[in-house]
Amino acid sequence: MRIVLGVGGGIAAYKAASLLRLLTEAGHSVTVIPTEAATRFVGTATWEALSGNPVSNSVWDDVDRVNHVRLGHEADLIIVAPATADVLARAAAGLANDLLTGTLLMASGPVFFAPAMHTEMWRHTATQANVATLRSRGVTVMEPASGRLTGADSGPGRLPEPAEIFAAALGVCGASHAATDELTGRTVTITAGGTREPLDPVRFLGNRSSGKQGIALAQAARAAGAEVHLIAAHLEVPVPADLQVTRVSTAHELRSAVLAALPASDVLIMAAAVADFRPADVMTSKIKKGDDGVDPVISLVRNPDILKESVERRRAAGGPAVIVGFAAETGDADGDPLAHARAKLLRKGCDLLVLNDVGQGRVFGEDASAVVILGSDGSESAPVSGSKRDVADAVVARITRILVG
Ligand code: CTP
Repeated sequence: MRIVLGVGGGIAAYKAASLLRLLTEAGHSVTVIPTEAATRFVGTATWEALSGNPVSNSVWDDVDRVNHVRLGHEADLIIVAPATADVLARAAAGLANDLLTGTLLMASGPVFFAPAMHTEMWRHTATQANVATLRSRGVTVMEPASGRLTGADSGPGRLPEPAEIFAAALGVCGASHAATDELTGRTVTITAGGTREPLDPVRFLGNRSSGKQGIALAQAARAAGAEVHLIAAHLEVPVPADLQVTRVSTAHELRSAVLAALPASDVLIMAAAVADFRPADVMTSKIKKGDDGVDPVISLVRNPDILKESVERRRAAGGPAVIVGFAAETGDADGDPLAHARAKLLRKGCDLLVLNDVGQGRVFGEDASAVVILGSDGSESAPVSGSKRDVADAVVARITRILVG
C-alpha cells in the first residue's frame, strides 16, 4: 500500500520512527510529511533515511509536482502520529497551511489519527470538539494511552505504542478495503476483554485477556457490513472510535448487557474471558492486614454461564441465529485440546466454538493466534493461523456461510 505518515510536532515524534519501521518492514511504501514543528524534534534526514523517500513539509517544494494533490490522491491510507492538539484543530477546521494539512484535505482513502498531548490539552473542550468533528466525518481518531507524559505528569495523552497504532490503522484500512455487504442489515453483538470481580474497594480478581481478539472480530464484522455492538469488559487495547460500545466490569454486568442485547442480535460472539468464580463477599471497606496474625481466606461462588444461558434463552424465546463461543484449551490426562473443545461445544450448546490451543507456552495478549473452528454440525475447519484479524475474518466468514449460505 501507499501510506502517508504525517508527524505532528510533539515529543512523541521519535516514536513515529518505530511506526515507520513497522510499516516499511510490512512492505508498504511510506512518504513521511512532518510538520515544521515536528522537524524540531526529529530531522527530515531521519525520515528520508528510514522511509527511502524524499521528505518535505512545504507546499513550495517541487511545485511542478503539486505534492499535496498527488500525495492525497495516491495514498491508500494516511496516518498522523503523533497528532498534536494543533494538527487535530487544523484538520478539523479544514486549514491547508502546510503540506500535511493540504494532503489531508485531498485524501481519498482512510485517515487515521493517533493523538499525543498533555492530559489537559486532550480533555480541553476545544480538542474534544475537534475530535468529535473529525470522527463525524468518518475519520478514525484513536484514544490516547494513559501513563507518564513528557514531564513529571501522567494521565491520558500518551501516544499509543507503535505496534498498536500499526495494527489499528491497518485494521481500519483493511476494513475499508476488504469491505463486503454480506452482513449488511445484521446486528452482531461481540463481548471482549476480561471481567473483574471485586474483593473490596481497591482489589479485584481478574484475568489476562487483552480484548484484542474481540476488537478484531468487531472490525471484521463491520467490514462485512454488519451493525456491531461491542460489550467491553477490561481491555488492554483502545476501542476503534466508531464502534458502539457498552462498558461493563463484572461477569454479572456482562450477563445483563448480553441478555439485553439478545433479542435484537442476529449473531452473538462470546469472545470475553468471563470469570467463572467471584468472591462470595465483597467488602465495603479495604481488607486490612491487621495485627492478629490471621490471614484472610477468600471464598468464591460460581458466576452464571452467560454463553449457556444465551443458548437456553434462544431456545425458549428466540434470539440470535448464530451463537459463537471461544475456548482456550490445553491438553491434559483427560484429552487433547480438540476433545475438550468438542465436549465444551456440546455442553454449551452453541453453534460454533473457536478453539484456541494455548498449550506449548502460547499466552494471552499475543498478536498472533492459531485456532480451529468447530461446528455443532460436527464440522471442523482447517487450522487458521495468523493475526487476530486473520482469525476474526475466518470466524466472520464461517458465520456468514451459516447466515446467508
Ligand atoms: N463463558 C461464559 N460465561 C462464563 C464462562 C465462560 O459465557 N461464566 C463463555 C466464554 O466467553 C467463552 C466460552 O464460554 O466463549 C468458554 O469459556 P471457558 O472459560 O473456556 O468455559 P468454561 O465453561 O468456564 O470451561 P472451563 O471449565 O474449561 O473453564
